Amino acid sequence: MKKAKVNIKGFEIYKGYLDSNSQVELLAAIRGIAKAAPLFSPVTPSGKKMSVQMTSSGQYGWVSDRNGYRYSPCHPNGVQWPPIPKVLLQPWKELISAEREPDTCLINYYGLATKMGMHQDKDEKDFTWPVLSISLGDSGLFRMGNENRGGSTQSIWLDSGDLVVMGGEARLKFHGIDRIRFQSSQLLKNAGRINLTMRVVK
Ligand code: SIN
Ligand code: MN
Repeated sequence: MKKAKVNIKGFEIYKGYLDSNSQVELLAAIRGIAKAAPLFSPVTPSGKKMSVQMTSSGQYGWVSDRNGYRYSPCHPNGVQWPPIPKVLLQPWKELISAEREPDTCLINYYGLATKMGMHQDKDEKDFTWPVLSISLGDSGLFRMGNENRGGSTQSIWLDSGDLVVMGGEARLKFHGIDRIRFQSSQLLKNAGRINLTMRVVK
């Protein structure tokens, strides 16, 4: 079924793409990933602990420490990332490609007072592929900017089940999460927001 989308500055936003049954299924798959590859708090290259907790699945995962931001075939604890569960790949198949799977699915967990500063997704080798973002749990205020830092921005609340395709003119635009509405959703027992981003890395 074709779902409605809104386009803001090139970011394609699908409100309410996933129904509540699919959200519960995705959450179960994410729990499996977090068991095999536990959430960790990345440190920026300058040594600052990020407030978001992360893990990944797929051939690569995103890591950050004093040596910089990069994709790695292993979790910081040395284990290989678990494969991306089929149920997580379904929205990618529907909206991005039925032939080419993403190389990674990053998982961000936002607890109380977690935010993510404005940044570009530019550690991937190929920017022709969009990044697909899936939001679950508490709502997050998503800010969209421009290819250079600064200038006018627009914001939208991303609720549980919303998807964003960051491709084309939006692929290298700055974006971030200003704040979350803690406990606004019932999906996660202990509240918080999960964001998945699927990416082609190589
Ligand atoms: C990200 O930019 O990596 C995450 C965006 C979000 O949490 O919605
Ligand atoms: Mn990003």
